[in-house]
Amino acid sequence: MKRHRWLLCLTASALAAVAPRPLGAQPAAGAAARIKIDPDRVIGEVHPHVFGNFAEHLGRCIYGGIFEEGSPLADGDGFRRDVMEAAKGLGVTLLRWPGGNFASGYNWKDGIGPRDQRPVRRDQAWDAIESNRFGTDEFLRYAEKLGVEPYLCINAGLGTVEDARNWVEYTNEASNTYWAQQRRKNGRDKPWNVKIWGLGNEIDGPWQLGHKNAEDYAKFALEAAKAMRRADTSIKLIASGSSNFGPAADWVGWNRTVLDRLRSEIDYISLHTYIGNREGNLEKFLAVSRDIDDRIEVVKGQIQAVRVGNPRARPIHIAFDEWNSWYRTITPGMTEAQIGATGLEEKYDFADALAMGMFLNSFIRHADVVKMANLAQLVNVIAPIFTNKEGLYLQTTYFPIAEYAKQRGLSSLDVLVESPKYKPDAGRELGYLDVSATYDPKSKQVYLNVLNRSDKADITARVENVAGAPAGPVSVWELNHPDLKATHTFGNDKVVRPVTRSASMKASGNGFEYTFPKHSLTILKW
Ligand code: AHR
Repeated sequence: MKRHRWLLCLTASALAAVAPRPLGAQPAAGAAARIKIDPDRVIGEVHPHVFGNFAEHLGRCIYGGIFEEGSPLADGDGFRRDVMEAAKGLGVTLLRWPGGNFASGYNWKDGIGPRDQRPVRRDQAWDAIESNRFGTDEFLRYAEKLGVEPYLCINAGLGTVEDARNWVEYTNEASNTYWAQQRRKNGRDKPWNVKIWGLGNEIDGPWQLGHKNAEDYAKFALEAAKAMRRADTSIKLIASGSSNFGPAADWVGWNRTVLDRLRSEIDYISLHTYIGNREGNLEKFLAVSRDIDDRIEVVKGQIQAVRVGNPRARPIHIAFDEWNSWYRTITPGMTEAQIGATGLEEKYDFADALAMGMFLNSFIRHADVVKMANLAQLVNVIAPIFTNKEGLYLQTTYFPIAEYAKQRGLSSLDVLVESPKYKPDAGRELGYLDVSATYDPKSKQVYLNVLNRSDKADITARVENVAGAPAGPVSVWELNHPDLKATHTFGNDKVVRPVTRSASMKASGNGFEYTFPKHSLTILKW
């Protein structure tokens, strides 16, 4: 099946361009923008799982990324030590596996037992050869070593309910059942205790192996959920939500059916979004936050709709379990095999790094409902970490993610933002400043995350805090570069790096003025 739809860059390019309003039209003197923080206006906790990640059997993510048997860079388990260190530095809290599209053709039983006896298969999702040398026990051991929560995605494409149920027994059963005994035979006595399970991947997409309509998917997922919960009542389940945002796709209808049928079984519904800067137009590229916000808010409303009037309704949140910029190694009409052959080895630039802030700002602004998000993916495949046999380098996108991850567990604040606006296309206008804020009630520290998406103008904002102006210096983290296309490579990965400084702000009243440079991502902390 050919892919054509869900990349936001494609829908954007179909829209007529409208010249942005020049910033000169804004007040020339003093602050053009206003940002007001009130630590009492808490949206919700920025759940640590918002800094989740994803590792799929695709290209060089697992083999040659996470896992490289025989490499001098690998530890005794075959895990690349340098990749693990970089993943730690990224602040990863949760890891999704084994896919992705790969999950919809995967038989988990192929990946257990003595490695040399495991079957070599043709992976039908990406048309690649799968050695199965990295399987369930390797993944769970990796997650344990990395210190992250594992998240397994079942095969809801070509797989069966029984396979899904047995997988839970294999990983989580403490007694001496058949599958628990298999796990022990394979070297793991105590249960792995996997808490988070996905009920399939992108089943709404025609490109997916075992693609189903919403009703058929809901029937399958309901039975899988029941069976899996009987194997372990403590697990959390994620329904496959909308990933297909093509013009003909009824993504709202898909979510409505899935939520309606599965409401008493699921804890999350997933959302996936990839974006792209095909036109090389930063202000258009970063305007995609409108779609991200819209998608989250529509699904939030749909969740409310299935819970309203039932005080005992199960809480349901959004797991934004695939997100990233991805457009260089995919073009409309490519088959999955053609995409897979590229290895999805995107070389990220400075504009992509800014987009990381845009996504994370949106997740933080919706911290009441987005309780999980997974960057797709961890290494080599559309990833912030890039390896070869001798080492690795960090892509431009690595740095904002690592910095935002320090805000995990904090309270997201509902910030008032008045910013000069622009109209990047025929859609509604939006502010140049894209903002989120978090607050640590214990230390009383505020983090203010500001993306200036104007590629032409610095914007001065008056930053106010109802709790008062900063008592001391403000610490500034800033990511900026004159060349939006600046990238990294081996031996040259210090081009796009954040600068930090401590700044004494001239306070007036309960705030201060700060100028956010054009095309920059700034985190102020005080
Ligand atoms: O992350 C790459 C692919 O994008 C995943 O396998 C799939 O779920 C999505 O379409």
